[in-house]
Amino acid sequence: MTGVEIFRGDITLLEVDAIVNAANNSLLGGGGVDGAIHRAAGPGLLEECEGIGGCPTGEARITQGYNLPARHVIHTVGPVWQNGQADEAELLASCYRNCFLLLEQNRLSSIAFPAISCGVYGYPAEEACNIAVRETETFLKRAATGTTVFFVCFNDTIEAALRQHLSP
Ligand code: APR
Repeated sequence: MTGVEIFRGDITLLEVDAIVNAANNSLLGGGGVDGAIHRAAGPGLLEECEGIGGCPTGEARITQGYNLPARHVIHTVGPVWQNGQADEAELLASCYRNCFLLLEQNRLSSIAFPAISCGVYGYPAEEACNIAVRETETFLKRAATGTTVFFVCFNDTIEAALRQHLSP
C-alpha cells in the first residue's frame, strides 16, 4: 500500500527504513527529537555525523540508524520561524523534498517524519503541517508502489493540524 499514516508517539520506536531527525546545522545533536534520536541510536550516530561536517538549512543528510530499530536516520535542518520574513515556507518545503530525494536515491520504501521546525524552531503547526502534507502528496504521486510515509505526532496540536490537511 502506498500512502500516509499518522503515528502518535516516539519516533525512535519506529521500525522503518528511515526516521527523519529535526536537526541543527552542526548535526551534532541537541534537544527535542534530535536529542531523543541520538540517545536511542548511541554514540555511533554522533561519530558518523561528525564526519559529515554539518548541513545547511533546507538540506538533508543520511546516516545509518545504529541502535535504533530504523535502518537509517535522515537528518534535515528546518528553518527557525521568523514571522514568515525569511523564506521559511520554501526552506521547510525543501526539507521534505530533500528527504524524499534521499529515500529514492537509497531505494528505501518507508520514512517517518516528526513535525520539523514545530518545536524549538517555533514554526506555526498549522502552516508547517500544510507544507508537510502538500510535499508528501506530491512525492507519493511519483513514488514506487508500497512507499509509506509516517507522520509522527508527539502532541495533540500537531496531530490535529495534520488531520486537518490530510485528504480523507
Ligand atoms: N518523537 C517524535 N516527535 C518528537 C519527539 C520524539 N521523541 N520529541 C519531540 N518531538 C516533536 C516535537 O514535539 C515537535 O513537534 O518533534 C517536533 C520538532 O520539535 P524539535 O525537536 O524541537 O525540533 P525543531 O523545532 O525542528 O528544532 C530543532 O531543536 O533539538 C534541537 O538540535 C535541534 O537545534 C535543533 C532544534
